[in-house]
Amino acid sequence: MAAKPRVFVTRMLPQAALDILSEHCDVVLNEQVVALTRAGLIRRIQGKVGLVCLPNDRVDDRVLGSSPSLKIVSNVAVGYDNIDVETATRKKIMVTNTPGVLDETVADFTWALLLAVARRVVEADTFVREGRWTEGWMFMGFLGQDIHGKTLGICGLGRIGQVVARRARGFDMRVLYTQRRRLEKAVERQLRATYVDKETLLREADFVSLHLPLTPETVHYIGEGELNLMKRTAILINVARGPIVDEKALVRALKERRIRGAGLDVFEREPRVEKGLLQLRNVVLAPHIGSASRETRTRMAVVAAQNLVAGVTGRRPPNLVNPEAFVS
Ligand code: GLV
Repeated sequence: MAAKPRVFVTRMLPQAALDILSEHCDVVLNEQVVALTRAGLIRRIQGKVGLVCLPNDRVDDRVLGSSPSLKIVSNVAVGYDNIDVETATRKKIMVTNTPGVLDETVADFTWALLLAVARRVVEADTFVREGRWTEGWMFMGFLGQDIHGKTLGICGLGRIGQVVARRARGFDMRVLYTQRRRLEKAVERQLRATYVDKETLLREADFVSLHLPLTPETVHYIGEGELNLMKRTAILINVARGPIVDEKALVRALKERRIRGAGLDVFEREPRVEKGLLQLRNVVLAPHIGSASRETRTRMAVVAAQNLVAGVTGRRPPNLVNPEAFVS
């Protein structure tokens, strides 16, 4: 019997995905919870045909150039800004992602952050736990802001942004969106979303939620200038990618009360968090857990495993990011 293709998996995954992989491949699994260094990753992919990795594994040109046997890199995420796709394509290495299976879950978490910031849930929880709640019903305490009836501004009305917009209906909100290309009128009507330019959205939205991919064009998409356009009562939510927001500028705006709050699931230099953010009470911080429900993380890992198995067995992977790299 021919030897199974050898693959390296950079982190422990749900058993359902490992089962799919090991049925077809000879799997080497990194059981550590932290990402490998570049040198570590290079060492582990020698002689491997496939690599399964996460958004915090940097698969750059040096990694891609280090293993001539590598045919496919399967990212367990929808975003793939951690992979140098251009180099991969040049080297005929396929790159895949996991679109579609996490939209609802990430949209749920967007709302979790938005509600938590607007209604000061984390601050209130800390207050109770610390035994500081002594005066009963505090009529003037912990005043937050309403969500229902307000304006939600969505930057990037793609798969996840659209689910966020759908959820906004339950809160009777007006939805504005901005992105490079306007959607078809029928889709806009269905989502009850109005297309505006970025400046209008920033000026009019009570909540600004980011759902853009990280590309060279979207680095610091929200910086000093954009924060200055936002309402003083506005709340910024980022569940997309950290570098889309200039974190230093955000800390300044929050400290100076130029905007009211922020909910952040992603950071510019994960797992490092800008110190200024840690000191602010008007932010809710989460460790990149937007898609972290048991069901969705399992679905993502299974899709990534299926992508990889297709690639190493000569079939076209279902979620191929760079079709030019597929050699039939
Ligand atoms: C997670 O961040 C993803 O891109 O799926």
